[in-house]
Amino acid sequence: MILQLNGISKRFGGLQAVSNCSFTVEKGKVVALIGPNGAGKTTIFNLITGALKPDSGSIYFKGKDITNVQEHKRVHLGMARSFQDVRALTEMTVLENVILACPSRYAESPLLSLVRPNQVRKEESHNIKKVFEILEYVGLSDKKDKLAGDLSYAEQKLLILARLLATDAELLLLDEPASGLDPGSLRKFVELIRDLTNNNKTILIVEHNVSLVSEISDKMVFLHHGEALAEGKPDEVAKNEELRDIYFGA
Ligand SMILES: Nc1ncnc2c1ncn2[C@@H]1O[C@H](COP(=O)(O)OP(=O)(O)OP(=O)(O)O)[C@@H](O)[C@H]1O
Ligand SMILES: [Mg+2]
Repeated sequence: MILQLNGISKRFGGLQAVSNCSFTVEKGKVVALIGPNGAGKTTIFNLITGALKPDSGSIYFKGKDITNVQEHKRVHLGMARSFQDVRALTEMTVLENVILACPSRYAESPLLSLVRPNQVRKEESHNIKKVFEILEYVGLSDKKDKLAGDLSYAEQKLLILARLLATDAELLLLDEPASGLDPGSLRKFVELIRDLTNNNKTILIVEHNVSLVSEISDKMVFLHHGEALAEGKPDEVAKNEELRDIYFGA
């Protein structure tokens, strides 16, 4: 198990956004978090990454209690997220965008980079090689010199995914990564996400398209009013009448 939420609650003023929520994410799996608008899905992402602190409950990542670990330290432990609405840096090329997402010992320490120029070059060439592999993997190699802002919508979604892969994080939190894609791009995108588990990645994905996530996820967690109402095999959760009424009634 790579991630475990134990009885997590979060209140915003009078609103109980997340309520005694518990679920687990197993290593190497795709877990889908579904539920109506306002169910608390993005808030749960914010609690997992440390952008928000829970009022109660605990979160374990790779066996370590991270409930009180700061956000930037959680990143170093190996998690990365995409945001529901944020676009890649549009004034930079595709290549630059992905290179900037690579972790860098030396970029973070100018002094160290002065005294160790050879290691800096080594790190740079390692990163460049990695970035080319990632661009190949997501299918953006021939767009590498284009400005991110000039990419199509679907290509921008792939660029966001490429940036996440560049972080080397094992756990990827994807908040509606495929929203608004045309059917053709969507198909390619979900196959890509599914394939990531063959590359040592674990995925927690928020997605409104239930039939789509049923196809790619190993497990579904159904969230309603911040509570994990059900957790199980996608077909079982998706065909549960009560949950369907909540989901489609909302
Ligand atoms: N920072 C905040 N301050 C106050 N209320 C918030 C804050 N963030 C979220 N909320 C509220 O908490 C509830 C859960 O929001 P959240 O964004 O987690 O839902 P969601 O499941 O991601 O919804 P959607 O499917 O629309 O993205 C909503 O009622 C929202 O308005
Ligand atoms: Mg959301």
